[in-house]
Amino acid sequence: MMSGYNILVIGSGAREHAIVRALDKSPQGKELYCLASNMNPGIAEICDELTVGNINDPDFVANYAQEIAATLAIIGPENPLENGVADALWSAGVKTVGPKKRLARLETSKAFTRNLLQEYDIPGGPKYQTFDSMDGVADFLKELNDNYVVKYDGLMGGKGVKVAGDHLHSHDEALIYCRELADKGNSFVIEEKFVGQEFSLMSFCDGDNLKHMPVVQDHKRAYEGDRGPNTGGMGTYSDADHGLPFLNNNDIEEAQTINGATSKAVKAKFGEGYKGVLYGGFMATANGVKLIEYNARLGDPEAMNVLSVLESDFIDICFSIANGTLDKADVEFSNQATVCKYAVPEGYPDSPVIGEAIDVSHVSNRDGLFYASVDIQNDQLVEAGSRTVAVVGTADTISEAEAIAEREISAVKGPLFHRSDIGTEPVVQQRIDHMNSLR
Ligand code: AMP
Ligand code: GLY
Repeated sequence: MMSGYNILVIGSGAREHAIVRALDKSPQGKELYCLASNMNPGIAEICDELTVGNINDPDFVANYAQEIAATLAIIGPENPLENGVADALWSAGVKTVGPKKRLARLETSKAFTRNLLQEYDIPGGPKYQTFDSMDGVADFLKELNDNYVVKYDGLMGGKGVKVAGDHLHSHDEALIYCRELADKGNSFVIEEKFVGQEFSLMSFCDGDNLKHMPVVQDHKRAYEGDRGPNTGGMGTYSDADHGLPFLNNNDIEEAQTINGATSKAVKAKFGEGYKGVLYGGFMATANGVKLIEYNARLGDPEAMNVLSVLESDFIDICFSIANGTLDKADVEFSNQATVCKYAVPEGYPDSPVIGEAIDVSHVSNRDGLFYASVDIQNDQLVEAGSRTVAVVGTADTISEAEAIAEREISAVKGPLFHRSDIGTEPVVQQRIDHMNSLR
């Protein structure tokens, strides 16, 4: 019999592959288990057991955790959080990284988060109003003029957010979208639109203490030059100093302060601390750092950037989150730049090819390859319809890391595409120039 920890990871994308890899690196005795929604061969290779099942069913997950005598569980995606999987795991006596359902409302309800920031006087919020009918909508749009964003108040994979000038081109179009939401009985938020550069700051959080990760920039649009439909994120980069070339230290400190204040506010409101990863989606603007949204988990692809340079023991970090001892945990990242790129099916995201074979055998660094939406059919690795595989390049500079990531992702063969512009010098320079023109 093996001695050590039985650790359960919930989810089976590239983020969870990165989580499993980081756990596996720990020298501590462990058995790793994964409850998956698809057969991820990268996770299966590392874990002692991978079981495909309904990861959004709290009873199923808690029963499985008890069967394997899990001492720790880590929840990757947002849907299990929304469904109360963390609550069920804690009730079953399993220490869990990932907030309980009502605390995960930071991600699952846009209105909740805006109201919380306002109630606790946390900076970075926009002018906003919440609605569940058309009452007052036209007046508020007039007040915001051309700078508005309409957000469906729930999880919709980023697709419920419509931005003026981008998805909505007149108040008439905005009113049509709002009416669509109101007619379905949905509530929604209308808020001021910010202009600037987006970045992600993820913080480990044990309910009281925070330890921040390097900041990362994601690229949500499907095509080169930030064109085309929104996706879960096509690729990301982060600099060797754990910053981004278009941010200054002040921006990062402001974002850290907002994450800290938010974790305090959640505890004050619920009398219970948030245990998991607090992921702030921020925008650096001419008037300081603004909060776009919160996610209640690691970002995907951001997890691949930060976990690739994590030097400390991830098992220790996860236990310290669950135990409330994060202040004493060692959380160090190496001073290296990372670039992550996803290969996605042709036609993604609107009409992806599915079931086509892909070949990853030419990728030279297997430790930098992360499997996501794939399946095994007739012993063949095939595309399952969403973001397929990711690679991470790690080097002293963003440019060098980009060259590695580009070479590796180009070596993945099949009906796929990726964004070759992410992390290249001209694109990074554009971000710097854009921020300089705003400040
Ligand atoms: P969310 O699902 O809230 O992350 O929104 C999806 C995307 O919409 C974000 O990544 C931003 O690009 C954009 N967005 C959301 N809120 C705002 C805002 N207040 N100002 C400008 N862009 C926004
Ligand atoms: N990178 C975007 C997300 O994880 O939501």
